[in-house]
Amino acid sequence: MKKLTIAIDGFSSCGKSTLAKDLAKELNYIFVDSGAMYRGIAYFVLQNNLFTNGEPDTVSLIKRLDEITLTFEYNPEKFESDLLLNGITISNEIRKHEVAAIVSKIAVLKEVRSKLVKTQQKLGEFGGIIMDGRDIGTVVFPFADIKFFVTADPTIRAERRYKELVLKDSTITLAAIKANLEERDFIDTTREISPLKKADDAIELDNSNLSREAQLAFALKLINERTIDV
Ligand code: DC
Repeated sequence: MKKLTIAIDGFSSCGKSTLAKDLAKELNYIFVDSGAMYRGIAYFVLQNNLFTNGEPDTVSLIKRLDEITLTFEYNPEKFESDLLLNGITISNEIRKHEVAAIVSKIAVLKEVRSKLVKTQQKLGEFGGIIMDGRDIGTVVFPFADIKFFVTADPTIRAERRYKELVLKDSTITLAAIKANLEERDFIDTTREISPLKKADDAIELDNSNLSREAQLAFALKLINERTIDV
């Protein structure tokens, strides 16, 4: 059977990665979280203290992009891949609030995007891949076999992210998360290069009131219908 390329885009904390992981497991496909790669670059900024007046020093970052190699490595204990920055696992570090606070400012840079889009396209060259992000159906895989655009109510999204983050950082507040999500939505949808938008041929999936299982069932039904067509 043909190995499909499946693109999943949408706002932050909409459950895109959950859907992508569930589908990858079900279909035995590769799962790639492209947001993790942007977070990896933001982590490099923090690690190397590339800041001027409290803001990421994008000029220095761009000069040092060649020093960054991001790879994924399957971790059998977690049943998912770790992200490695120059050979060192940073899967936990990239989920921290400090990274979320600056990542959108890094993701607007055309040099960063072009580096990561190339890596993402290479990962998908043989199909059998599910990638989630903001520009997967529009830029990375414009000819993807199936595209989903996932949405959810903003309050529900903030609560979901809060539940996830508070386990790792008890000082975090729901208000701070809400503000960060709003800021990221704004930057992600209004940036000049590859803004987040629904591809014309994407299927919209609002999962505000859907369980994880119901969301998976919805997507699988569409994929099965599409597989019969291709
Ligand atoms: O999905 P996430 O929250 O982990 O993504 C982190 C940031 O990276 C998000 O603010 C937008 C950016 N991003 C992007 O610009 N393009 C992608 N394909 C994936 C993420």
